[in-house]
Amino acid sequence: MKRKVTKAIFPVAGLGTRFLPATKSVPKEIMTLVDRPLIQYAIDEARAAGIEDFIFVTSRGKTALEDYFDLAPDLESALAASGKTELLDILRTTNMDSGAIAYIRQHKPLGLGHAVSCASKLIGNEPFAVILPDDVIAADKPCLQQMVEAYEDTGGAMVAAMEVAPEKTSSYGILDVKADDKSVFSINGMVEKPAQGKAPSNLAVIGRYILTPHVMANFAHITKGAGGEVQLTDAIAAEISQDRNVFGFRFEGQRFDCGSKAGFLQATVAFAMARDDLRDDLYAYLSDMMAVDKAAQ
Ligand code: UTP
Repeated sequence: MKRKVTKAIFPVAGLGTRFLPATKSVPKEIMTLVDRPLIQYAIDEARAAGIEDFIFVTSRGKTALEDYFDLAPDLESALAASGKTELLDILRTTNMDSGAIAYIRQHKPLGLGHAVSCASKLIGNEPFAVILPDDVIAADKPCLQQMVEAYEDTGGAMVAAMEVAPEKTSSYGILDVKADDKSVFSINGMVEKPAQGKAPSNLAVIGRYILTPHVMANFAHITKGAGGEVQLTDAIAAEISQDRNVFGFRFEGQRFDCGSKAGFLQATVAFAMARDDLRDDLYAYLSDMMAVDKAAQ
């Protein structure tokens, strides 16, 4: 029997302080790359991977996120009445079936691990995916779909991993691996935000996971870790100390850290350049700007 993953958790309860003042009233996940909010990219990736149940862990001030996935009957009628069928089709990509989406609240931002543990009752005794919407991955085959296919063979817990520069390792969960020459590889250990020079490798965990009910159960014993927060990394690492399999997955694609301003701007340019309706104008503008900048140096 194939191992199936049909539930995904989207932790969106963080404060988003790096985007203040915007995030005072706009949830980070509603911010747009060109014309689609970050959360739409995450949902589309989950759908492509076969996810059927979408669980959002939200917090106060995030109602715009719930509204985004609701029907917009007035807008739909207005577009239909004026024959704007293309726009109507775009609008309908945001529709979710009733019952497919659940919102639960994390009352205090106690960390990513804590946010995931808030969904424990909805997950029950099943494997589940976790998607962090501020990690956006451009790929021919969506990243989570690549992982779900690999997981059918491996089982266990699986984390998406990518190489980062040695000076950046202290910003990530870092993997301790035996050999990382394959796309799927076994993990000996993992450490959240290691101090400079103490990282066991330069393979960093990014925001895509497939996890088992065991990982969820581990939260019963996990206390605050790095940064005074309940860390997801610690609950996954606890699997290794209980002799259960944890795999790293080297995905194919380009990841953008849209939780940071630089990453968000890079993603905006990359996604705009991938669009036929925008590429030529943007290319001309960027070329002119760089020429002016060079001449001024
Ligand atoms: P980040 O580390 O990016 O934190 O969280 P943040 O609050 O979103 O943003 P900054 O650092 O203040 O700018 C990574 C992911 O974990 C979620 C966030 O919503 C984001 O998807 N998260 C984090 C929670 O859901 N709850 C938390 O307590 C912490």
